[in-house]
Amino acid sequence: MRIIRNIGDLAGIVPPGVARKVGPEMDEVTSIKEAFVAIKDGLIHDFGPMDSCPEPTQDDEVIDAGGGMVMPMFCDSHTHICYAGSREREFIDKINGLSYEEIAARGGGILNSADLLHQTPEDELFRQTMERVGEMVAKGTGAIEIKSGYGLTTEDELKMLRVIRRVRETSSAIIKATFLGAHAVGRAYRGRQDEYVDLVAKEMIPAVAAEGLADYVDVFCDEGFFTPGQTARILEAGLSHGLRPKIHANELACSGGVQVGVAHNALSVDHLERTTDAEIETLRGKETMPVMLPGSSFFLGLPYGRAKDYINAGLGVALASDYNPGSSPSGDMRFVMALSCVKMRLTPNQAFNACTINGAYAMGVSEIAGSITKGKRANLVVTKPLPSIASIAYCYQTPFIERIII
Ligand code: NIG
Ligand code: FE
Repeated sequence: MRIIRNIGDLAGIVPPGVARKVGPEMDEVTSIKEAFVAIKDGLIHDFGPMDSCPEPTQDDEVIDAGGGMVMPMFCDSHTHICYAGSREREFIDKINGLSYEEIAARGGGILNSADLLHQTPEDELFRQTMERVGEMVAKGTGAIEIKSGYGLTTEDELKMLRVIRRVRETSSAIIKATFLGAHAVGRAYRGRQDEYVDLVAKEMIPAVAAEGLADYVDVFCDEGFFTPGQTARILEAGLSHGLRPKIHANELACSGGVQVGVAHNALSVDHLERTTDAEIETLRGKETMPVMLPGSSFFLGLPYGRAKDYINAGLGVALASDYNPGSSPSGDMRFVMALSCVKMRLTPNQAFNACTINGAYAMGVSEIAGSITKGKRANLVVTKPLPSIASIAYCYQTPFIERIII
C-alpha cells in the first residue's frame, strides 16, 4: 500500500455512484481537513481523517503531504493533441485581423494541420503527442480525451487513431479516443461536401469501428463546416457502429448542433460560445453534458459560454481545454479554471467540479476518475499548502503542484 499522510485538505470527495454534479450541487466540494489516503493496486483503497490513518507496515510506502491539499487530477474531456507541428503563422494572421473563419475559408486552419499530419511519420506524430500528454500530466491532468480530425482521408484518420491507441497503451493517463473525420472537408473533396459526408459515414466509420479505434464520434457542426442534417447522418452511422456522439456545436454560430446532439443522445455537446435559452431548454433533464472551452474563447477572442445560466437552470457543466494548434494551444486546466472564474463568473467550487467529476462524465470515465471515491483510480495531485480551492484559480500562475501520483 501507499499511504499519503498529513494532507491539509483532501478535496473532491464524491459518494460512489454519483456520475456528475448538476445545478446547486456544482457549488459543493466535499473535503476532509487533516486527512490520509491509502492506495492499493493504483486505486483509492481508503481515506479519512488522520486520526484514523492506519499504522504503516514495513511494506507500505509513506508519502508525507506536508499539509498540502490532495485533489483528483483534472479530467480534460475535449482535446485535439494528436497533431503535427504548429500554426504560428495563423496566430500572426489573427493578430493582423483575420478571423478563424476567414483563415479556414482560405484553405488554412484545420487543412494546414491535415497537410502537416500527412507528411509526418507515425512515430514522430506519436512522439509529439506523448510530449503534450506529458506536459498535461505535469500540470495536473490525469484523463484526456483525444480527437482525430487532422487526417481527413480514411488512411490519415486511421493513422491518427492508431497513434492515439498507442498513446493509450503507453501513457499513465486515462485516454479516450474520438473519431472526428467531419472536422473539415478534406482537400480532395473541396466543393463536394455531401460526398465527403458519405465518405465519413460509409467508409471511415466502418473502418474505424472494424479496428476498434474510437470510443466516440464527433462532428464540427457549425457555420462554414457541417450542417445539422449532415451531422445527423454521421451520428447515425457512428451510433450504428457503437460510437456515441460527442459533438462540436455553437462555436461560430447557433448551429442547431445542440439540438441534433441531444436528439442522438450525445454524451456531450461542446463549445457553446453562442447559446440562446433554446439550447438550455433542449439540454434540461437530458444525459448530455454541456462542455465549455474558455481557452478557445480567450485565444480567438470569442464570447465566453453562459455556464452560469446553465447551472442556474439546474444543469451540470464541464470545462475542457480544447488543446489544439488553431484555437487553443494550451492544455492547462488550471488556466481553464481561472478563465471560467474571471470571465464566466463561476465560483471556484463550480470550476473545480466542472474540471474534475463533470469532465470525467463528459468523457465517459466518471466510474474510474474525477473524484476522491473508494475504488477509483488514485490519479491525484498533491499540492503545496494552499489556503483554499479558490487559490488554484486565484494565483493562477504560482506553481501549486508538489507531486503528481498517477
Ligand atoms: O475545437 N472547432 C473546431 N475544432 C477545433 C479547432 C481545430 C483547429 O483549428 O485546428 C476547436 O476549436
Ligand atoms: Fe475542439
